[in-house]
Amino acid sequence: MEVQNSTYQFTEDILAEMRKLVSRYPEGREKSALIPILHIAQKNNDGWLSVPVMDAVAEFLQIQPIEVYEVATFYTMFNMKPVGKYVLEVCRTGPCMLRGSEKILDHIRTTLQIKDGETTSDGLFTLKPAECLGACGYAPMLQLGKYYHENLDVQKVDELLAQCKSGNIKLD
Ligand code: FES
Repeated sequence: MEVQNSTYQFTEDILAEMRKLVSRYPEGREKSALIPILHIAQKNNDGWLSVPVMDAVAEFLQIQPIEVYEVATFYTMFNMKPVGKYVLEVCRTGPCMLRGSEKILDHIRTTLQIKDGETTSDGLFTLKPAECLGACGYAPMLQLGKYYHENLDVQKVDELLAQCKSGNIKLD
């Protein structure tokens, strides 16, 4: 990953939110707040973490940029490139696979004309296959924003896509 000097500045509101979060951790252990801080940073950068954003996080937490890159690139909930307004995280682990996740993925790929990890040209949807999201009993499922959509079939996916297109869906 190319390292560059951070040019990104958090707004005062975001800094205040981050400081409040860090204050929950013992003195000297501020770096333990890295994951929730990255969530805040990602949410406020159109859903992804650029190098300048990660550098700004490192600066805020007074840690090395590499420590931020390591964590951000390890966890799949962090996006390393721009994403669409609606990120469809479709679980493809065992139980969901046995209950038809590949059919769901194929349907989304065909309907939206994108491959895994890609974003539609209108910037609305990103397809992101995911590993177990802890809702195996309701397989197959996908996560959209903070919400789980469970016991999916092709018709439910179509309804979900239509809701997104009309802006009639909650993300958080
Ligand atoms: Fe899909 Fe666990 S396998 S939620």
